[in-house]
Amino acid sequence: MSASINKVSVIGAGTMGAGIAALCAAAGCQVVLLDMKSDIAAASIERLAGGKRPVITEDQAKLITAGSLSDDLNAISDSDWICEAVVEDLQIKRDLFANIETIRRDGSIVTTNTSGIPLKDIVADMPARLRQDIAVTHFFNPVHIMKLVELIPGADTDPQVTSRLADFLSGPLGKGVVYAKDTVNFIGNRIGCFWMLAGLSKAANADDTSMEAIDALMSKPVGLPPTGLYGLIDLIGLDVMDFVAKNLDKNLPANDVGRNYLALPATESEMLGNGQLGRKTGGGFYKLVKADDGSKSMEVYDLTDKHWRPMQNIELQAVHQDIKTLMFSDDAEGRFSWDLMSATLNYASELVPEISDDIVNVDRAMKWGFNWAMGPFELIDAIGAQAFSDKLKADGVAINGMLKVLLDNGHGSFYINDGKEFLTVDGHYEQVPA
Ligand SMILES: NC(=O)c1ccc[n+]([C@@H]2O[C@H](COP(=O)([O-])OP(=O)(O)OC[C@H]3O[C@@H](n4cnc5c(N)ncnc54)[C@H](O)[C@@H]3O)[C@@H](O)[C@H]2O)c1
Repeated sequence: MSASINKVSVIGAGTMGAGIAALCAAAGCQVVLLDMKSDIAAASIERLAGGKRPVITEDQAKLITAGSLSDDLNAISDSDWICEAVVEDLQIKRDLFANIETIRRDGSIVTTNTSGIPLKDIVADMPARLRQDIAVTHFFNPVHIMKLVELIPGADTDPQVTSRLADFLSGPLGKGVVYAKDTVNFIGNRIGCFWMLAGLSKAANADDTSMEAIDALMSKPVGLPPTGLYGLIDLIGLDVMDFVAKNLDKNLPANDVGRNYLALPATESEMLGNGQLGRKTGGGFYKLVKADDGSKSMEVYDLTDKHWRPMQNIELQAVHQDIKTLMFSDDAEGRFSWDLMSATLNYASELVPEISDDIVNVDRAMKWGFNWAMGPFELIDAIGAQAFSDKLKADGVAINGMLKVLLDNGHGSFYINDGKEFLTVDGHYEQVPA
């Protein structure tokens, strides 16, 4: 089996497929980009190299050939890597892989960019050759900016396939590879979507804390991006959140605590029904308003009174600006922050080794895919693992997962030696891999 990847086919020329094709062209690969019609793929290539902020140069764009699935599928026959990035629909993906399998050459690698469909469902009853040559390569949007790619082998994937992909992704494509397991939503979206869905639910039931205050707390003080909770969901769209929740409902284990947060709160459900989805519909929780004189201001949708009002600037007290004090602050801000962050961090602790063999891959997924300044285990260390566990116990929460490993082995933190060693699931420390 040849080790290098030089010829790539990307199927699906939408947001993700176009981004992956551009990344490969920028790395000097020959790329075939297919969609339902070749015009769709051609328009994507034009967008990549044009506009105010081109992603690739005109010369790099010449490395990408547009085509259609109906007329040009044969063009994938000599590709080293065939990456599927069509709509998130199990049957459409399965039909496509059945076709790909009749055309691709021996030794080629196949991947899917699915966000959350388990690979085992995609390859169920497929030929053994496909099952050994396929994996998930889950890129994050925008592809040329986000460092993370989650790499997920299936039950029958040849380890050589995984290592060839890891070399290519981290080498020529310059990505940060995180190894995940074939479980729903993999690592980043499993924890990130828990945080968002639990956040909406908990905020709906929180003491008097405004949307602006929640976003001010759920950003810099806890090392999360400035969009906070509602700002991030505006970016993603309530329709996507609803789609994610439905997929989680189908695939989460029966006893998973994430099941408590799959239903959107009443007001958010109404917003979804009314098409008030987020930035793509001109406003969701926030909207930018232009006055007649040309000035611009932000408004927020008041979830209690259900009307738009001017956004308020929030000045956080010093005690609320640092996660170490915020988590233990006995006021509305502290209680909400503890409620959401402790649930999320404890969820991450319980998910190892279910979704990842170790804490390092979990921390990297959240930093590289969600722009968290620290991963969940680094955050627990920053709060103080003992104090964090004591407060969870005082809340009546049973300590499981990696927190239990840590406490049972008498350790004080998940990382030691300036972050160079991490706690394994067996309770000892190992060198953090490069
Ligand atoms: N957008 C994201 O943030 C994101 C992030 C990670 C993974 N993903 C996953 O990547 C995949 C693609 O998502 P996207 O955001 O690029 O979607 P998109 O809607 O932008 O593009 C999907 C493309 O698939 C094509 N398509 C639709 N039906 C098809 C069919 N029957 N056969 C072939 N092509 C068909 C469409 O013409 C379109 O160009 C999905 O599995 C999605 O879950 C998306």
